[in-house]
Amino acid sequence: MAYLWTPALATGVAEVDQQHQELFRQVNALADAMRQGEGKGSIEQTLDFLANYALQHFASEEQHMSQMNCPAAAENKKAHDQFLAKFREMREKLDTSGVSSTLAIEMHDFLGNWLVNHIQKIDCQLQPCAAGAR
Ligand SMILES: [Fe+2]
Repeated sequence: MAYLWTPALATGVAEVDQQHQELFRQVNALADAMRQGEGKGSIEQTLDFLANYALQHFASEEQHMSQMNCPAAAENKKAHDQFLAKFREMREKLDTSGVSSTLAIEMHDFLGNWLVNHIQKIDCQLQPCAAGAR
């Protein structure tokens, strides 16, 4: 299943919203690579790209939140750290056991669900902060 960014997930910060849209594209690209039975190398490449992009995005989003004195800043950073730990754990599992369709579906669902829930619950708290900063 494809995970989609919708205007209901807008944070009010254009840069953050663009990065979220790119994250959705990458999560879906991962599913496509898996569905098309692309090799382990290609799936690993997609995951590496996703991990790097997520790191850059988290840093940029955390900076926006702290600059705007957004009350969700600490909770956001904690959630990002937890995500990265879980991502690393899944990545290690994939490196050890190899790419299986079960693990592939598990990763895709984890990433997609995390993204939607995290943006809704935490990142969208940027909205009032961004409105106040205007
Ligand atoms: Fe976030």
